[in-house]
Amino acid sequence: MAVFLDSGKITEIEKYMKMGIIRGVTTNPTILLKDGVIGGMKAIKERSVEIAGKISPYPLAVEVTTNEKQGMIDQAKEFSQWADNICVKITIHGPNGELDNLEAIHELETKHNIRINVTAMMSAQQCLLAALAGATYVSLFGGRVNNMGYNSCDEIVKLRGALDSFDLKSKIIIGSTREVLNIIEWLNAGAHIVTVVPHLLEGMLIHPYTKETVKMFLDDAEKAEKALKI
Ligand code: E4P
Repeated sequence: MAVFLDSGKITEIEKYMKMGIIRGVTTNPTILLKDGVIGGMKAIKERSVEIAGKISPYPLAVEVTTNEKQGMIDQAKEFSQWADNICVKITIHGPNGELDNLEAIHELETKHNIRINVTAMMSAQQCLLAALAGATYVSLFGGRVNNMGYNSCDEIVKLRGALDSFDLKSKIIIGSTREVLNIIEWLNAGAHIVTVVPHLLEGMLIHPYTKETVKMFLDDAEKAEKALKI
């Protein structure tokens, strides 16, 4: 059971690594764009190598930027050379339902020994097929599932049951976190990993009543010290 950070920002990654609470980092092209990674593959490589170095031996997920089969395979091979702890994200299918992706995923896992995180999945059944294809990680987008009106926890329970029954090695990552509550509820439902955006990790950690309690302790310690001096 682990928490990954869904971020491409070095300062955020360093912050939570120093606390010892994250066990990996996930990115995608949208996250990298938001976190200032512009300039194509050169910029993606620079940031990925930097993140991978900071979190080693924990894994960093880097997503391919093409949906063409040979292009996905070539990028996956390239990314996996950047650092030992890089795994490659490939979506379950293309923007129009193209199915080359699973062939690429299967080939990369079985012939090239490259760890693949199959991503952008919205149902247990998609994840099961990705697991059968040999994916190291299967990423279900829990927040998007909930936003479509389905219960992400139900999907996680079904998926974990199927993976365990068929003795499939894939680890379930639930991403697309929208609420602090998601993190514990998804882990309890059977996710191996939840990948969390930084502001929700902070929301999970900091509690207003804890602040008030700590202030009381510090104020009373100060009063006690002053009282001693009198
Ligand atoms: C996970 O690995 C994904 O990159 C991420 O959680 C997607 O979240 P979103 O629904 O906020 O785009």
